[in-house]
Amino acid sequence: TKSYRIASIPGDGIGPEVVSATIQVVEKLAKTLGTFDIEFDHIPWGTAYYKETGKYVSEDCLDTLRKYDAGLFGAVGAPDVPDHISLWGLLLALRGPLQLYANVRPVKTFPGTKCPLNTATKGIDWMLVRENSEGEYAGQGGRSHVGQPWEAATEVAIFTRHAIERIMRFAFETAQSRPRKLLTVVTKSNSMRNGLVLWDEIAASVAKDFPDVTWDKMLVDAMTVRMVGKPDSIDTIVGTNLHMDILSDLAAALAGSIGVAPSSNLDPTRKNPSLFEPVHGSAFDITGKGVANPVATFWSAAEMLIWLGEKDAAAKLMSCVENVCSAGILTPDLGGTSNTQGVVDAVCAEIEKLI
Ligand code: NAD
Ligand code: IPM
Ligand code: MN
Repeated sequence: TKSYRIASIPGDGIGPEVVSATIQVVEKLAKTLGTFDIEFDHIPWGTAYYKETGKYVSEDCLDTLRKYDAGLFGAVGAPDVPDHISLWGLLLALRGPLQLYANVRPVKTFPGTKCPLNTATKGIDWMLVRENSEGEYAGQGGRSHVGQPWEAATEVAIFTRHAIERIMRFAFETAQSRPRKLLTVVTKSNSMRNGLVLWDEIAASVAKDFPDVTWDKMLVDAMTVRMVGKPDSIDTIVGTNLHMDILSDLAAALAGSIGVAPSSNLDPTRKNPSLFEPVHGSAFDITGKGVANPVATFWSAAEMLIWLGEKDAAAKLMSCVENVCSAGILTPDLGGTSNTQGVVDAVCAEIEKLI
């Protein structure tokens, strides 16, 4: 049997709640199926670590992670630390340097859960592909004359042919692997006349290698209208780091709840371990109440299992999660009355039925 070592980075807020829920479920799955072994090592990075050491991660964080087959991340962000410090201290300090350039965010309405859109005939089933290494998140810029009335700040977005080409190719391959073979390339090349015009040009050239994929282009503002008005016309979407950050929260809400939306930060070259995490953040408003929806992290772990080669186990895990949703065992964000542990216990009970 294959055996995997996973870096567990629960982080802040509800991160530890949903990661602990997920470890329970995945360990149960591995034990029940007996087809693979999995071990989670706890890595304490986050705001408590920062308050103790002055840093969000250890000095050798990249090498630490390289010892693992993958990472499972919860969330980072605390009410008493500025968000740009916490996020650049931990999450953004990993995605870019590890070149986890493809952020893959599937969005689906689960059986037993309600899609708030009456324009969607069968709920939502989309695949969002986010450029995850540069663009508006290049982290370049600065401030001058701080505090003066003439203070100026720059936030420079960087778009390189190399990074756009690799994410575009990844998106066309993703669209090609799905039954509908539909791709929408989202830009804003009317107002953003350099980097996003480059996106449009590269889309047109990469498309030539994928004649079986039907693709179109859409300005990001119009895309939000289409997501609400004609959800059935959409399948795979690709766009810049910031555009897809925003569209992925919108998509999750349209599908039913941000509490079920997973994400994979992939290094498709497999030089570095990939990082799997829910789309949502630390959710201060529900931290410690035990009601966080763990499904986004369950699904992220299923994506991790697929990435590691355990497709069958991942499919079984997701079928157990779907059965639990169908049975109405849901957290409050989905209109249910269950708590996090109630969902964990129900999924574990489903897993027991697998053998
Ligand atoms: P958020 O995603 O944490 O919360 C938005 C809303 O969704 C809240 O009402 C929250 O209760 C709800 N929600 C989120 N996850 C849920 C779950 N699993 N179950 C039920 N409800 C859930 O976004 P925010 O409030 O903008 O950010 C809070 C903090 O998290 C900030 O510090 C932010 O920077 C950080 N953040 C971190 C990540 C990450 O680590 N990947 C992602 C987004 C935001
Ligand atoms: C996400 C988050 C992060 C992002 C933040 C917290 C830096 O919102 O993963 O969607 O913008 O990428
Ligand atoms: Mn986001």
